[in-house]
Amino acid sequence: MNDKPIGIFDSGIGGLTVVREVSRQLPQENILYFGDTARVPYGSKSPKVVQLFARQDASFLYDKGVKSIIIACNTASAEAFDILRDNFDIPVIGVINPGARAASESTKNGKIGVIGTHGTISSGAYKKAIQDSDKSIEVTAAACPLFVPLVEEGWESKSTTRDIAREYLSPLIEGGIDTLILGCTHYPILKPVLQEIVGDKIILVDSAEATAGELKQILDEQGLGNSSQENTDKHSFYVSDFPFKFKEMAERFLGKELAEVELVPLEVIESHATN
Ligand code: DGL
Repeated sequence: MNDKPIGIFDSGIGGLTVVREVSRQLPQENILYFGDTARVPYGSKSPKVVQLFARQDASFLYDKGVKSIIIACNTASAEAFDILRDNFDIPVIGVINPGARAASESTKNGKIGVIGTHGTISSGAYKKAIQDSDKSIEVTAAACPLFVPLVEEGWESKSTTRDIAREYLSPLIEGGIDTLILGCTHYPILKPVLQEIVGDKIILVDSAEATAGELKQILDEQGLGNSSQENTDKHSFYVSDFPFKFKEMAERFLGKELAEVELVPLEVIESHATN
């Protein structure tokens, strides 16, 4: 069991921000990644559709024999975390609670901003997670739906992206936040431009770091960590469309060559809704 991989899924390349952090904190663990590139974006779809996709994605990973599942997508974590946690007999980790905890620990003035997809923001999941532990924290949220396509297109350094980011972030900056949650796993890819716009007094919280920390804690508690000498640090990547485009972007983002990105036809993913 211990040398089985950690399953990580997202609608596209955003979950790679979590892959990078898991590899950094748990270098001995193997990872099996699924990016649902045929059906990205999830952030503009209804909760019912996101729940169905999330169940299919998680079941695909489960049937591949992973020992734990990370929902490396805020939208799917917001809409489907409870369903997945209750339906699988392995640990399921979402990105919302770890990110909310990290932001609550970071704020000094009690004003936190959250940016994410329409789905994540309208679910109110971050606000709830933060205010469940501290009602006095003020949470201002903004949907930034153009960020995901800009990232998927590799436009993170274009001036258009900077202009769009300024437009989205100005009301949050004017509202006096001192902490900003990047509530979509695609957004850390935009971190340099976002930090430039908000200035260095506002702390950007990327839930990948806190999520990898939570995984580490769970593996330790349940005695599931990989202690094998041979079978370590092996990563496999699967996508539901355009594996070449994914490979190119993933290599650029992770800074290393990937052996292969395998295409899993959508019909195969759709047949994995048993859990
Ligand atoms: N990366 C995802 C998230 O964290 C989803 C983006 C999308 O598919 O809309 O919300």
